[in-house]
Amino acid sequence: MKADMIVGIQWGDEGKGKIVDLMAQNYDVVCRYQGGHNAGHTIWVDGVRYALHLIPSGVLNPKAINIIGNGVVVSAEALIEEMKQFEGLLGRLFVSDKAHMILKHHILIDQAKEKLRGEKAIGTTGRGIGPSYGSKIERSGHRLGELRDTAKLATSLIEFYTENRALFQALDIVTPDFSALKDELDGYAEILLPYLADTTQMVWKFLDEKKRVLLEGAQGTLLDIDHGTYPYVTSSNTISAGACVGLGLSPKDIGKVTGIVKAYCTRVGNGPFPTEDFGDEGQMLREKGKEYGTSTGRPRRCGWFDAVACRYASRINGCDDLAIMKLDVLDGLETIKVCVAYEINGQRVETLPEDLNNVTPIYEEMAGWESVVGCRSYDALPQSAKAYLKRLEEITETKIGLISTSPDRNDTIIL
Ligand code: IMP
Repeated sequence: MKADMIVGIQWGDEGKGKIVDLMAQNYDVVCRYQGGHNAGHTIWVDGVRYALHLIPSGVLNPKAINIIGNGVVVSAEALIEEMKQFEGLLGRLFVSDKAHMILKHHILIDQAKEKLRGEKAIGTTGRGIGPSYGSKIERSGHRLGELRDTAKLATSLIEFYTENRALFQALDIVTPDFSALKDELDGYAEILLPYLADTTQMVWKFLDEKKRVLLEGAQGTLLDIDHGTYPYVTSSNTISAGACVGLGLSPKDIGKVTGIVKAYCTRVGNGPFPTEDFGDEGQMLREKGKEYGTSTGRPRRCGWFDAVACRYASRINGCDDLAIMKLDVLDGLETIKVCVAYEINGQRVETLPEDLNNVTPIYEEMAGWESVVGCRSYDALPQSAKAYLKRLEEITETKIGLISTSPDRNDTIIL
């Protein structure tokens, strides 16, 4: 059996929560493979609100097993806090003992460095994501499995703090002493050790047993550390290939890939965004689409569908189809813009350049529609909405498999 995957196509916040929640009902196992508690979505079930940052959405399907893979960076504190929302997680939630920890100093370094960057700040979520992945890559990180010997882990961290005293002093960061650190780590170990597992072997076994496995991507393609708008990116591989590394799967284990994309575009944090709309329509999209970050509450920058970036993202992820989210947010507009190419130094360019800073979008204007809100069948959509979707399929060279017409689970058209 192969694992199916959902992956963000833009700069994150495409509405993956609704789709994963919908899909998780049909899967036996749901896995996260990258990112950390910088991600987030809110799911309402029977009037109860659940905020998910690290735990896969399968937690809301009582029959599903949930896996946090080795490619995720885990703040033990954040994970424990999130776990409090649920009962009976033991045996339903497994966390890779190879996943790297986000420690308190990673968070403080993230926030201090952002301040130092001034105008060049990346606009990180301040959750320690970059510094934790940085430690992993420079081979000074610590994995969750090390919580099995907290004395050894605390000793190693104290050595690290001592060697890097000058850095911590320069950043005004106070590091803990051995006994405070050991106590903190013991607290994490007591709660988390029963959840640690060799999740790679587990996923292989589930696939061999023909269990249905869903891989849940966080953030979006344009935030990928290699293929996104570097350096204004997150520190992990958000594209579908990241699932292989972040769980220990081979490319042959991957089945259907669905790209999640909004009918327009948003970005939170700094960095290039060619189709950003600074005017009334951008503001309308923000208010109507409730475009404020779930993890940080920050207002999102809003703009038009960038079909060039979407075609690139679809190819790089190997998308079998696209799920178009929030089509209803475009309701009531007289015309809708779609970016079909960029102008760079007077030339028309239809591929994504290395530097997205100095590109001017070339738009096609399409007729708007009155309302699609709550539509549950393709036939019920207005002609102009169908024409808009058809055009997106053509330019992105990817078929549309699902259309979402409101936040409600049921207001979804499956094609
Ligand atoms: P970091 O992941 O906190 O290091 O932030 C790096 C960039 O990724 C910033 O622009 C963040 O706003 C952005 N980012 C991180 N996580 C998310 C997410 O879940 N949705 C949207 N943007 C995100």
